[in-house]
Amino acid sequence: MNAASSASVRGGRAALELSGVRKSFGKTEIIRGVDLTIPRGERHALIGPNGAGKSTTFNLISGRFAPTSGTVRLNGEDIGGLPPFVINRKGLSRSFQITNIFHRLTVFENLRCAVLWSLGYKYSFWHRLAELRDARERAEQVLELIGLQHRSATQSGLLTYAEQRALEIGITIAGGADVILLDEPTAGMSRSESDHAVELIRKVTVGKTLVMVEHDMSVVFGLADRISVLVYGEVIATGTPEEIRADRRVKEAYLGTTLDEHAPADGASATMEAR
Ligand SMILES: Nc1ncnc2c1ncn2[C@@H]1O[C@H](COP(=O)(O)OP(=O)(O)O)[C@@H](O)[C@H]1O
Ligand SMILES: [Mg+2]
Repeated sequence: MNAASSASVRGGRAALELSGVRKSFGKTEIIRGVDLTIPRGERHALIGPNGAGKSTTFNLISGRFAPTSGTVRLNGEDIGGLPPFVINRKGLSRSFQITNIFHRLTVFENLRCAVLWSLGYKYSFWHRLAELRDARERAEQVLELIGLQHRSATQSGLLTYAEQRALEIGITIAGGADVILLDEPTAGMSRSESDHAVELIRKVTVGKTLVMVEHDMSVVFGLADRISVLVYGEVIATGTPEEIRADRRVKEAYLGTTLDEHAPADGASATMEAR
């Protein structure tokens, strides 16, 4: 975190701020009072055992679910309970844990769709040509950023898995959102594929705020400025990678796992699965 972003937090202008957020499904409380402040420009990893509520937290931030109680603020504005497309227009974009692209469209068409959607594109004779030109230019920029120029005209269903995940990241950032949520962007990737994905994520999130759910500890320690650990719907620790690695409660939550083993230097592919 740099000086400017700590100042913005003090001024109440964090990119994202969750206070006392709770979510129940029926009688079961899944998210049990989450407080989380993410300064602008930070890359933040959300980690925790399967079923801890990481994807649900993303759903609460992106508007798929409304919190049962508590507040979610985006750039200081209360967005709790707003529909996903409204939150998206306010500058927050998310990817899904499951790859979410149109398989029959080409790579370029997928990106252009994402751009048009973000522009609030509706059919209108007078605006159509200019909007399409803007969208084409923006789609070309994103294509280059994600390194898939040579695949532009390929049907997306024919891409390799890693290329599809890269396209998905492209779709997520295409609209120019400045807060990006990625849910397990390297899941199912080989070591070299996920190293490549880390570089891509780093590149596309320069100057943006990133919140990322991730199991691979070398990805987490390689990318995150700060980490929050979610266990059974509660954040049990938030801190720098060094602080998290040294945290006793975090070690206890990950029985049988020593976080020190997963420092980025050893390059090991480690998955934090616990309980
Ligand atoms: N729509 C839903 N209805 C009921 N239970 C849900 C729903 N979504 C998630 N859950 C439950 O909430 C818990 C947390 O799920 P999730 O947020 O997907 O965990 P994580 O992403 O940390 O693995 C799980 O027990 C899951 O079954
Ligand atoms: Mg999940």
